[in-house]
Amino acid sequence: MPDQATSLERIPTVIVGDHDELGCLVACRIAELMRTRGRAGRRTVLGLATGSTPIGVYRELIRMHREEGLSFAQVVTFNLDEYYPMDPGSVHSYHRFMWENLFSLLDIAPDNVHMLRGDVRREQVGEECRRYEDAIRAAGGIDLQLLGIGRTGHIGFNEPGSGIESRTRLITLDLVTRKDAAADFFGEDSVPREAVTMGVGTILEAREIVILATGEHKAHIVSRAVEGDVDHEVAATFLQRHAATTFYIDTAAGARLTRVATPWLLGPVEWTPQRTVNAVTWLSHETEKAILKLTQHDYAERVEDEAVE
Ligand code: PGA
Repeated sequence: MPDQATSLERIPTVIVGDHDELGCLVACRIAELMRTRGRAGRRTVLGLATGSTPIGVYRELIRMHREEGLSFAQVVTFNLDEYYPMDPGSVHSYHRFMWENLFSLLDIAPDNVHMLRGDVRREQVGEECRRYEDAIRAAGGIDLQLLGIGRTGHIGFNEPGSGIESRTRLITLDLVTRKDAAADFFGEDSVPREAVTMGVGTILEAREIVILATGEHKAHIVSRAVEGDVDHEVAATFLQRHAATTFYIDTAAGARLTRVATPWLLGPVEWTPQRTVNAVTWLSHETEKAILKLTQHDYAERVEDEAVE
């Protein structure tokens, strides 16, 4: 982890080599929590996410269950969200995703699995959401919440405009989110326009939060969430206000963090030939000047004094 004093990162961030490594690291943290609580005779309440990013974590948890006897008999789960409307038996439903990719491969009791329903009548959605919040409270709150991040910065399906106090509710999906889901639905027009999701406020009540991102298509939103100002246009920035959140990302998703992209802005760096090329290219973009037109003054103004010596 970077030295927070010389970093612009407002959420502790761990960069790992690839998706598999990330899966192992996060699964180990979850297993450790389950074992610690299990030894104290306590159940573990996990908040879970769907999407492609957590698959590696689920694969590793399944391996630990099979090969190391990690038991989920004392685990209670709450998933973040579900499309609306959505039949739980549909291939597109998050219910089906979770049973196929995780629950059916573990020894979890079906009664301990909680998922928002996308098949209730519209006039019952409010009640369904309240019931869900009550169930989380009755379980003692969420010990560890796993999150992905969408290109809109959504956590759960909290699209731009979601407030820090928002609770579980029906929301309208952002166009970017629907575009990203288009391949799964064989076309954007088939992607539901709405979803039910835990709110930002609901998520922030989890005692520990682990958020994951992989791939270069997430690099921009990761740097915005980790280094940008808190803003309801990017729900993930609210995690900066949570005391126990860790961002786990791969190198591709971390490519736009300052410590990776422009580390000379943080202090003295070792000037390798590649880094020098990167810095000159960066400076040329910043100043909107051709490389051969850059002057000593441009360097002195934009790059730390110590760094150019
Ligand atoms: P992904 O989705 O893991 O499929 O990228 C993340 C999200 O939209 O929250």
